[in-house]
Amino acid sequence: MTAGSTEPVLRVAGATRTLGAGAASVRALDDVSLRLDRGEVAVVTGASGSGKSTLLHAIAGLEPLDSGAVRVLGRDLAGLTAAEAAQLRRRHIGVVFQFFQLIPTLTAVQNVAMPLILDGMAAPTADARAAARLDEIGVGECAGRFVGELSGGQMQRVAIARATVAPVDLVLADEPSGNLDRSSGELVLAALRSAAAASGAALIVVTHDDSLGLPSDRRFDMCDGRLTER
Ligand SMILES: Nc1ncnc2c1ncn2[C@@H]1O[C@H](COP(=O)(O)OP(=O)(O)O)[C@@H](O)[C@H]1O
Ligand SMILES: [Mg+2]
Repeated sequence: MTAGSTEPVLRVAGATRTLGAGAASVRALDDVSLRLDRGEVAVVTGASGSGKSTLLHAIAGLEPLDSGAVRVLGRDLAGLTAAEAAQLRRRHIGVVFQFFQLIPTLTAVQNVAMPLILDGMAAPTADARAAARLDEIGVGECAGRFVGELSGGQMQRVAIARATVAPVDLVLADEPSGNLDRSSGELVLAALRSAAAASGAALIVVTHDDSLGLPSDRRFDMCDGRLTER
């Protein structure tokens, strides 16, 4: 896949998504537009239920839109088959899910190696690269442990390692400091920043913690499905 040098990593235009049916339906995304270039960091703050996870899942191609469009590296996600979308995610998007979504029957290093193996890399090479990534992110000692043997902070770092084990263009992190104290939250955010910066990726972090972020970040508020830049 090639993208012109002026093509942003991400373009979201008029994205709308209603979840649930009838009286219980919620407009989780309400005319959301956003453009992100390589290297940019966007911090999106919003209360629980404001649509943050829905936004990230839509950008990752895991949640369809009712109207509007998401383009990643110029490719409209709605025009891709499921297999093409999965390949786009593997090669270009790293997702750190709110509840990590690590595979409990695999060790940390096997979890991190999974995207490489799915993309055709031989297991020994993938395992070696995954172990190196865990080292870089400060949890090398966890490589051989199963998910149930990791603390919350360690799971968080393993999830970041998995999302960034191959160089990606866009990193999406859903409440990465959600269950951590303030200083651990800052450390996790720093790990995400350096992981994204290493491949020149754009980074979107959604959080309910208004105090996270650096002055150089682009700051957004999410409220009732609407996204506004500060
Ligand atoms: N599967 C679903 N069915 C109905 N409503 C949903 C579903 N998933 C999420 N919602 C609602 O959509 C809104 C946005 O949810 P979400 O994106 O998870 O918010 P956040 O991540 O900011 O907490 C919330 O009101 C939530 O209750
Ligand atoms: Mg959420």
